[in-house]
Amino acid sequence: PIRAFLFDLDGVIVDTAIYHYQAWKRLANELGFDISEEFNEQLKGVSRMDSLDLILAHGGLTLSDEKKNELAAQKNQWYLELVSRMTSDDILPGVATFFSQVRKAGLQTALGSVSKNAPLILERIGMADAFDAIIDGTKITKGKPDPEVFTKGAAELEVSPAECVVFEDAVAGVEAGKRGGMFVVGLGSPDVLTQADLVAPSLNDLTVDQVLTKAQ
Ligand code: G6P
Ligand code: MG
Repeated sequence: PIRAFLFDLDGVIVDTAIYHYQAWKRLANELGFDISEEFNEQLKGVSRMDSLDLILAHGGLTLSDEKKNELAAQKNQWYLELVSRMTSDDILPGVATFFSQVRKAGLQTALGSVSKNAPLILERIGMADAFDAIIDGTKITKGKPDPEVFTKGAAELEVSPAECVVFEDAVAGVEAGKRGGMFVVGLGSPDVLTQADLVAPSLNDLTVDQVLTKAQ
């Protein structure tokens, strides 16, 4: 049976995905090129440094590690400026209702985000206590599509991968969940999240019962 739901943060609980995109776009523009929304799909769920590497390759640039650290820090500063104004109003539609259904169903929850800013964002939106386990970018060595962030979440909750459902908006995140041996709900477009076991536009379009029926 399913015993735990594991949630990505950016683009699932809160729409920070747009802020990551805006900050990366600003960086790319300063470097003399642009990144499209379509290209940005590849960046979703991918760690800060891996994202920068993809962006630099896209712009045909090779830079020193020192310069890359500087650019990553700059992007994060812009990103933090964007998220500093967030409040609980920024929680995505349907999240509160879905979480109350999750509690009623007696399921455990974990956050599985490769973002080092995840605790700060949870604090800002008033969801710091909403999860039984929190795995963020400071607790992992490999970002998505590696399954580490989700397998660690399952381990902390003391459940097996087969007892978990992952909720993801990113191609890399869906792959991470699948590689971890979990049922994956993709939130977004079925044309993009082709590896997901079930796809819906957002948590607002799903009930816990629907997910459990499909997953077990
Ligand atoms: C999430 C986002 C990515 C972001 C990554 C690292 O997975 O989807 O866009 O690059 O976290 O976030 P951070 O806040 O540590 O730079
Ligand atoms: Mg995401």
